[in-house]
Amino acid sequence: MFRHDIIERNATLLLVLSFLVVTVGGIVEIVPLFYLKNTIEKVEGMRPYTPLELAGRDIYVREGCYVCHSQMIRPFRDEVERYGHFSLAAESMYDHPFQWGSKRTGPDLARVGNRYSDDWHREHLINPRSVVPESIMPGYPFLLRSEVDPKSIASHLVANARVGVPYTQEMIDNAAADMIAQAGGEGGDAFMARYPKAVARDFDGQPQRITEMDALIAYLQMLGTLVDFSAYKAEANLR
Ligand code: HEC
Repeated sequence: MFRHDIIERNATLLLVLSFLVVTVGGIVEIVPLFYLKNTIEKVEGMRPYTPLELAGRDIYVREGCYVCHSQMIRPFRDEVERYGHFSLAAESMYDHPFQWGSKRTGPDLARVGNRYSDDWHREHLINPRSVVPESIMPGYPFLLRSEVDPKSIASHLVANARVGVPYTQEMIDNAAADMIAQAGGEGGDAFMARYPKAVARDFDGQPQRITEMDALIAYLQMLGTLVDFSAYKAEANLR
């Protein structure tokens, strides 16, 4: 108001002052983050992906499933009623890169784990129309034919460990064995001790082979199952 016209008539002065205001605002918002040890609240139950789940996640990324599916349930009533408790930051803390996504041609998959049987997933991935007649999702029948190589998975754990996922040396050393154990092979007990809440079984209906279908279904079946939400009340935090 008072002599404000000086600023309004002088483009350079307006620019310099706007810049100062934005700088102060930016500093106030950004600087505190440098002094926080952790910006993600710890949540009980989160663990790194098992070798088989990690291989499945790589296939998920390779096939571009994120183009049609998000993995982030927003804190709105309609979303929580449809998909379950809204996603917590900690639930994607071991995802590199995260799979939040911004496009939902298909439903959100953040909590799809345990919702369908392995058989359902297998049939759905081979040909979605066989179980959901109106589906427009493409089929991925080749996943049933291509095998995953347990020998190469340790290097994926190492790469994730380098960017901060807490894989121990023991987990890395046993990666190949753990992958075989989770797909229904031997060594299940040692595997379960390393990865709490993991499920070990033959996922693709071909016990003698470990295929990309095994890996992808193992991954889908664990999505959203690690944190026990019975203790949390979603409603309390809804907008
Ligand atoms: C072109 C878009 C598109 C792509 C790509 C796509 N999907 Fe889908 N997906 C859909 C649609 C649409 C549905 C809903 C109809 C149905 O169930 O088939 C769906 C449903 C699903 C469901 C069932 C979810 C539920 O809660 O009912 C799963 C699981 C799934 N997709 C997994 C995948 C995986 C894994 C991939 C990658 C290998 C993938 N989708 C790629 C469009 C897509």
